[in-house]
Amino acid sequence: MGVTSGLIRAFAPGRVNIIGDHTDYTGGLVLPMTIDRGTMIEGQLHDGPVELVSSTEDQPAIVPLDIADPSTATPGWARYVAGVVAEMRPMSGFKGRVSTTIPSGAGLSSSAALEVAVALALGFRGSVTELALLAQRAEQTASGVPCGIMDQLSIAAGSELGPTLIDCHTLTVTPLEFPEDLDIVVVYGHHRTLVGSEYAARVRECAQAEAIIGPLRLALPSDAARIVDTVVRSRARHVISENQRVRDFVMAIHADARADAGQLMIESHNSLRDDFHTSTPAMDDLVTALCARDGVWGARMTGGGFGGCVVALAEQGAIENDEAKRVWVVRPARGAHLNVS
Ligand code: GLA
Repeated sequence: MGVTSGLIRAFAPGRVNIIGDHTDYTGGLVLPMTIDRGTMIEGQLHDGPVELVSSTEDQPAIVPLDIADPSTATPGWARYVAGVVAEMRPMSGFKGRVSTTIPSGAGLSSSAALEVAVALALGFRGSVTELALLAQRAEQTASGVPCGIMDQLSIAAGSELGPTLIDCHTLTVTPLEFPEDLDIVVVYGHHRTLVGSEYAARVRECAQAEAIIGPLRLALPSDAARIVDTVVRSRARHVISENQRVRDFVMAIHADARADAGQLMIESHNSLRDDFHTSTPAMDDLVTALCARDGVWGARMTGGGFGGCVVALAEQGAIENDEAKRVWVVRPARGAHLNVS
């Protein structure tokens, strides 16, 4: 029986995390913002595999509906498509094209946007939380990286009002209204991938800390101080202090205390650099240079780290968009959505 349908357009934005990194996989707090860069999939259901060409990739992704092991799909980007197909096991295939304005390897969640858009295009039905959990499982099987829920939930539930405070334990999402005359600026430092990085080691080290002092989301700095192993202790210290910084940042924005908000971002960066070891010298230099500029309240590495982007909080217009230098003044954008015509 042939599949009939109209033109499907599934869109998923990228995200930048403003504060709260490496807290999601221990059920902590994060404050990502979906941005005005995203991934669009346009096409139609058909009898056959999931078949996508991409504006940024040479090779198409052709994924049979009964794909057994998504991690072996080729070319590389097809793994993320395959991860979603394996989770959904859709009744019909899809033929279409992917176009994206999210640079890959920047830490702006291009893979999570692709997964969420593919799930919507293939007819996912369910809540934003279920969509995010499905896309997270797809990412984990596709890449082998034991990522948390932040990227996928941010993208599924994003708000055009501003960043979203996400409690990664309860999975509640609360939009934070952001002053219109404050800019979020993203600067792309250098390319990275979490595959083969120390990301998985950080997840393990946090689990080791939790085996000693219990859930990090509930722990106090004095609990971390009890951990004998210095590496595990410093990882716990980062997570515990970062959760508190997210709470403090939200309060600072509510109170329009911009200097305080900026200072919290700088402290977050220092903690990721010194206690969590996910920054790089190039990112450290970028943060220092940004913080020295007039009108900049603070800056930090953002996302998984080991490269990628730096995010800054600046007075409106203090830093201008500069495509050639990969400096982007980003605006909050609506979360993923579907259109069928
Ligand atoms: C990556 C992961 C997220 C999160 C961040 C760090 O983006 O996919 O789950 O752990 O790193 O905050």
